[in-house]
Amino acid sequence: MIPSDVKATLSFSDGSPSMELPIYKGTIGPDVVDIRKLYAQTGRFTYDPGFLSTAACQSNITYIDGDKGELLYRGYPIEQLATNCDFLETCYLLLYGELPNPQQKGDFVKLVTRHTMVNEQMQFFLRGFRRDAHPMAVMTGLVGALSAFYHDSTDINNPQHREISAIRLIAKMPTLVAMAYKYGVGQPYIYPKNDLSYSANFMRMMFATPCEEYEPNDVLVRAIDRIFILHADHEQNASTSTVRLCGSSGTNPFAAIAAGVACLWGPAHGGANEAALNMLEDVQRMGGVEKIGEFIKQVKDKNSGIKLMGFGHRVYKNYDPRAKLMRETCHEVLDALGKTNDPILKLAMELEKIALEDEYFVARKLYPNVDFYSGIVQRAIGIPVSLFTAIFALARTVGWIAQLNEMIGDPEYKIGRPRQLYNGAAKRDVKPIGQRA
Ligand code: CMC
Repeated sequence: MIPSDVKATLSFSDGSPSMELPIYKGTIGPDVVDIRKLYAQTGRFTYDPGFLSTAACQSNITYIDGDKGELLYRGYPIEQLATNCDFLETCYLLLYGELPNPQQKGDFVKLVTRHTMVNEQMQFFLRGFRRDAHPMAVMTGLVGALSAFYHDSTDINNPQHREISAIRLIAKMPTLVAMAYKYGVGQPYIYPKNDLSYSANFMRMMFATPCEEYEPNDVLVRAIDRIFILHADHEQNASTSTVRLCGSSGTNPFAAIAAGVACLWGPAHGGANEAALNMLEDVQRMGGVEKIGEFIKQVKDKNSGIKLMGFGHRVYKNYDPRAKLMRETCHEVLDALGKTNDPILKLAMELEKIALEDEYFVARKLYPNVDFYSGIVQRAIGIPVSLFTAIFALARTVGWIAQLNEMIGDPEYKIGRPRQLYNGAAKRDVKPIGQRA
């Protein structure tokens, strides 16, 4: 960490001695005030629920400038990665810090590809679920269960274990997501076919049946690959922080990633793509474009409990750069499928236009996020709404692993242990049951 010349001084109005706090500079982005000695020196904690002003770690992986609407993976703008690289190149970049050269890419693709199959026993584990189980319930279980199938890669402190579990997770997530889907629709599982690209293989495992050949459509494969790239990492979001906190106890990588899957499920995080599409379909049922005004009125009414899903972000106070790329992909996919008149896309674009001009959204800097358009793309490809978040989890797995491995390799790493402001009862004595009110 690079110390800044500037120091912060914390003083107290009750006459307690003031304290000097070091400040560190990052490569870009806000400086941080080092408060690690605050409790030892003053007996006070900081209070920051939701981590609005807290850098929980140092990281070299992803940078977001929320005001500019900029997202960089290892310094590279997301727009350049989404246009010039494929998902496995992006995985290599996130894991190892640099884009691969042709030889490195070839070796990495081979390595990942040779781990795409899952232990055959996994099928029987899957059978324990109800057929109508939500795919994220299934994925939380399956990813956690990987630690029971791959005992030889569960020591988080062993670099070889970390390396092979990273490859296994990246390689097996598409297989598991496709299995969760096939199980739900009652079709036979399709084994990976290793002469296909990562994304084409996923499409085939999802949509092929043993009865006929499946030809992946290049535009749709590229769209899925782009969805994976755009969701691959996003700095210290809720699920990534969950993975770091879970992994900080020394638990195995599969268990830590399963914790990330569970966190991602929530509608304020990865579940927003599902919620956004459900919302668009609801508005369409209400009467579509005609009813947008009425719907926006409900969104603005705090008592309605209705939010414009796919809008707003804790960090972006400008257009989410991923949403721009996703909107572009959305048009490409609908063109390729001859669905340019898709009423849900029309509705989304109209809703976006109206929201971007509305004082409520302008004042709060609420812009579309990646989930606003990704659901429309996935639905057009034929992916059921309930699977959207599982696909997000598939893509985010590499980010979770890169962040987890970075944490374990950080000499300053400690088990995560937040403190609290306690507001409960002060110490009191237990009364015999007969004397209790
Ligand atoms: N619709 C209507 N009002 C909103 C919305 C929305 N989507 N998002 C925020 N607001 C309002 C909120 O009510 C508050 O208003 P006020 O100041 O009058 O109380 C103000 O904007 C600030 O919102 P906040 O809830 O304090 O902001 P936050 O940073 O805690 O929440 C968020 C961020 C993403 C949880 C929130 O914007 C949201 O719930 N959006 C909808 C869900 C969504 O699309 N999530 C996907 C995030 S991107 C994918 C990912 O990275 O996981």
